[in-house]
Order: sequence, then C-alpha cells, then structure tokens
Amino acid sequence: MNAPLRPAARVTALPQNFFGALDRAVAATRAAGVDVIDVSKGNPDLPTPAHIVSAMHAAVADPANHGYPAYRVRPALAAAIATRYREDHGVDLDPETQIAAFHGSHEALMASILGLADPGTTLVVPDPGYPAYATAAALAGAELRTLPLERERGYQPDFAALADLEGAAALLLNYPHNPTGAVASIPTLETAVAESTRLGAVFINDFAYSSLGFEARPLSALTVDTTRTVEISTLSKTYNMAGWRIGYAAGAAPVIAAMRHYQAHAFSTIFGGTQDAAAAALSGEQDAADDLVRTYRERRDLVVSGLAAQGWDVIAPQGTFFVWIGIDGADDIAFAKRLLADHGVAVAPGSGFGPGGAGFIRLGLVHPQARLAELLERLGRVRAVAP
Ligand SMILES: Cc1ncc(COP(=O)(O)O)c(C=O)c1O
Repeated sequence: MNAPLRPAARVTALPQNFFGALDRAVAATRAAGVDVIDVSKGNPDLPTPAHIVSAMHAAVADPANHGYPAYRVRPALAAAIATRYREDHGVDLDPETQIAAFHGSHEALMASILGLADPGTTLVVPDPGYPAYATAAALAGAELRTLPLERERGYQPDFAALADLEGAAALLLNYPHNPTGAVASIPTLETAVAESTRLGAVFINDFAYSSLGFEARPLSALTVDTTRTVEISTLSKTYNMAGWRIGYAAGAAPVIAAMRHYQAHAFSTIFGGTQDAAAAALSGEQDAADDLVRTYRERRDLVVSGLAAQGWDVIAPQGTFFVWIGIDGADDIAFAKRLLADHGVAVAPGSGFGPGGAGFIRLGLVHPQARLAELLERLGRVRAVAP
C-alpha cells in the first residue's frame, strides 16, 4: 500500500496566507460580474519610473548579466544604498559589511528572523502587524510574543508590556506602520534599542515604507543605533517596483553577515540586471520618489476628508499608503465580507493583522483619485445604512 504524501510539519504549521485568501475572494466576486474596487492590498498601481525601466532594458541586454551573479550584493548597488542613507538620514554605513540585498523586504525579513532566531527563542512583534512576521516565527520554530500597539498611544509601543520577558532573539517593529499608518517617534526608536539591549535581542525595523511620510521623511532606526539594529527596506513602494522583487537590509555588521550566510544557502543569488536597475533607482535625483509621496498625500487627503465627512471613524495616516478605519467595534471580518458582497469594495479586515486589529478595516490608496472618489461614493452608501 502506498503511504499518503504529506508536507513537512513546518509547512502544515504555517498560517493560511492572509493576502492569498483575500485575492481569491476578490477573484470570485469579479467572476460573478461585480466591478470590484480592490483596496485590500498594498500593491502600487502606478508604473515604475521610465529611467529605471530603461536601466533594466540595458542591464538585460548586457551579457555580463547572463551568468550566475556573485553572492554578494553588487558594489554599485551597495554604494547607492549607502548614499541614500547618508543623504536621506545622515547615517554612514560601510557598504562592505553593513548592507545586503534581497528579493524584496519579505525575503530580507525571512533571512533576518531565520538567521537570528533558534527554535524556542522569542521573537517580539507588533500587534497589529504585518502577517509575515508570524510566518517567519513559525518557520524558525520561535515563540511569538506580541507587543500591543494601541490607538490611545498613537500606535507607539508601551514597552512595559514586555516587563516579564527576560530575553529574546529579536524585537521587530515596523514604522511607518502597516496597517495603521503611524510613524515612529524618536522615543519609540530609542526605547526599542534600550529594550533590545536589555533582552539581548537584535532590533529589526521593517522600513518597507521608508519614503512614504506625509508630514516629514520617516525616521530611520539607524539614526539611533547601528550596533544591534538592522533595518529592512524595499524598492517596491518607493519606486513602484513591487513586481521586480528587490529590497535590502542595512545596519549591524554581525546581523548582516548572518543574513547573507542564510541567504546564500536558502535563496542563492539575485539577477544582476535587477541589481543594476535598483542601483539606478537609488542613485541621483529622487524626483520620481518625491512625486509619488505627493500623489499618495493627495489621495490620502481626498479619502480621509471624504470619509470623515461621511462620519467614519478614520485615523489619518502620517505614513504608508494605508488608511485605518474603526468600525465601532463591529466584527471586521463579517463587515469586510459584506462590503465586498453588497458594495463591490474589497478591504482588509483588521483581524488579519492580529487581535489588535479587530474592529478596524484597512484601505490601500492604490487607485487614481477618480476611482477613489467612486470608492467614497460606495462607502457613503454603507454609512447611510449604518455599519
Ligand atoms: C510592512 C511590510 N513589510 C514588508 C513588505 C514586503 O514588501 P516587499 O517584499 O515587496 O519588499 C510589505 C508589503 O506589503 C509590508 O507592508
């Protein structure tokens, strides 16, 4: 008799992919003929700036990029990342030892957590927070300890909640914060470093929305510390390059070394052409990135003022391209299902980001203003019948 084929325990232990499930619900509704406005995800709608696409064309045509690339990040890309840190944040980094590139910040997150957390160690993550943190902890066999982020505190952590914790492999924060749109205060970053020191932990800041601050440029955690802190960034949002799969990590050299070592074994190398195009994106004038911030700010202003006028409990984001909305303590999963079925609006239910997200929904500002105006119209009809 044939034994049944079974996946490994580490696969069966993985949570269901939150965004995959949302995609399926949207696809099924569209297949039924509904014109769905999908604001459930953070997939940028605008194209990659033309000069970056041209750099990729040239890089693809260059035979030097047709063989296996080196394991190490290309010097031109590492230098461009170092320049951005120096010019944007006043942080000096050694491109040789303090910078690594990855296929997006998702992969960098996996490399940081799998490179740092042994089975049974603790990983501290924000609640609400990006669902991949729990996935990474599950893959590492690490214990997940959530750090509540509360609205009353502007979604800044209260580290007193960790008072009983004696040690951890890593403390992870994410500012600008998905899903709430909060940006880090200086005390938050300083206390995170102090708390990480107490715990013997590495401090990881997921800086995926590094360029998306509406009132000011978001603070880099590396302005506070580079000895036990690593920051993870991406080109996905800054330059509309989500499909290109390129991101990077910067900070404490021993952590970067562990991440690179893990990466070489688990993920191998990154296409040289993508690295060349990423270097072109990060070098020189940053007008395209600055324009994008303006675009998202205009969309934010339209949506936030429109929702507030309709009486929604909307929390104006200071960063990211998300809008976080309270729904009077209603069941957010049922509410999101109803919005999709009855109004053709796909939103992310807050519970998908952890228990701290219950009673909220998240909208992504990933459509032009005309489509967002239509979104407001539909949400106005919902408000008229009360949530
Ligand atoms: C907080 C956060 N971190 C990481 C990522 C992963 O982005 P990427 O892998 O495209 O760099 C995302 C994507 O939405 C995100 O919201």
